[in-house]
Amino acid sequence: MFHSQKLSNKIHWIGVNDRRTHLFENLWPLDKGISYNAYLIKDKKNALIDTVDISFTESYFEQIDSLLDKGETIDYLIINHMEPDHSGVLKLITMKYPDITLVGNKNTFKFVRGFFGDFKNTRVIEEGETLNLGDHTLTFVMTPMLHWPETMMTLETNTKILFTGDVFGSFQTLDGVLFDDEVDLCKWEDEQRRYYSNIVGKYVKQTQKALEKLKTVSVSMLAPTHGLIWRTNLNHIINLYDRWSTNDTENGVVIVYGSMYGRTERMAEIIARGLIKNGIKDVIMHDASKSHLSYILSDIWKYRGLILGSPAYNNGLYPPVEDLVIKLEQLQVKDRILGIFGSATWSGGGVKNLIRFAESISWQMVAHAHEAKYKPLEDDYQSCMKIAEEMAKIVAGSR
Ligand SMILES: Cc1cc2nc3c(=O)[nH]c(=O)nc-3n(C[C@H](O)[C@H](O)[C@H](O)COP(=O)(O)O)c2cc1C
Ligand SMILES: [Fe+2]
Ligand SMILES: [Fe+2]
Repeated sequence: MFHSQKLSNKIHWIGVNDRRTHLFENLWPLDKGISYNAYLIKDKKNALIDTVDISFTESYFEQIDSLLDKGETIDYLIINHMEPDHSGVLKLITMKYPDITLVGNKNTFKFVRGFFGDFKNTRVIEEGETLNLGDHTLTFVMTPMLHWPETMMTLETNTKILFTGDVFGSFQTLDGVLFDDEVDLCKWEDEQRRYYSNIVGKYVKQTQKALEKLKTVSVSMLAPTHGLIWRTNLNHIINLYDRWSTNDTENGVVIVYGSMYGRTERMAEIIARGLIKNGIKDVIMHDASKSHLSYILSDIWKYRGLILGSPAYNNGLYPPVEDLVIKLEQLQVKDRILGIFGSATWSGGGVKNLIRFAESISWQMVAHAHEAKYKPLEDDYQSCMKIAEEMAKIVAGSR
């Protein structure tokens, strides 16, 4: 017999855990896996909230089958988000339940048509509209560009469970757990922040708008499409989202450097030591060739200070450092304090381009950007120390 997990008497989790995929969106490492959460509301009319990635169709269908009595069917599929990790089984669901009605907003159906074609029964809903299932009533909260144009949330007004789509989601599988009060929340925060910074982080304004909207809604549970369901510590995840979307960072410094032959790295080591000697407790070092951008971004999301180091490479930045710089510009990360260093042998190119980046992103700069020539000598290390000292002073003094 299948033991489905319940959010309430009639609302079931019918999600899956993905421990196989190495890269989410073929891009972001899934070292701890990910869950695709989907839900079934059983009532006079049965409604599915989202589906799962297509590779998990068998498990998804099995869970639905085990919860339906003989002759029962699915009446509605509520589509909060059309990204394929949630809409993967959409077409197959309509084949399994031919009379099902697809429910979404007008943007949802542009995507439905584009990805899958036309369907017999569709219902286009707007903000605040209701859909009665019997004892349960659904209403809809639009959250455009969080993180796709069609994204929305669905509130079940009887239980006050809010199905939030990717918002409040996380990497990391649900290993026998389902709810926030069943885990040590500290152990989840890194993967929650990595998910936010990697997947949703470009849309900080939209996050703030959604948080404002949520203040007007009475909610008992937040049920996202990935990770934990929040029924006890709702304010914990709401506060984290508030901090992450307002650049409310912690007193630490991330050093990201590239280095082929160790010269730039030696400068990074001196800077790290300088930060510690000047009272910074959290110093995180990333060799950009080794750490995945995903983890670097997540640490940058957490801490106020960032020190970037690059050797010159064919008149430009060292490629992995360049990747990071491009990403930070795309994400329009705000309010960090920046230090710059690097090394070169002839006409340079690394530090020059980091300075260009600093001008375009307009963060506060510490000390002078420093480039060592040939190899770093005592004077160069002094300049690195200066960067560390000024960074420590500003970071520690800024809050
Ligand atoms: C493939 C390659 C390209 C380079 N391009 C430049 C360059 O355009 N301008 C320059 O001044 N130095 C250039 N250099 C020299 C390095 O930037 C310099 O040796 C630097 O100190 C290396 O730092 P690292 O020991 O941290 O790798 C290049 C070196 C390599 C291997
Ligand atoms: Fe998504
Ligand atoms: Fe997702």
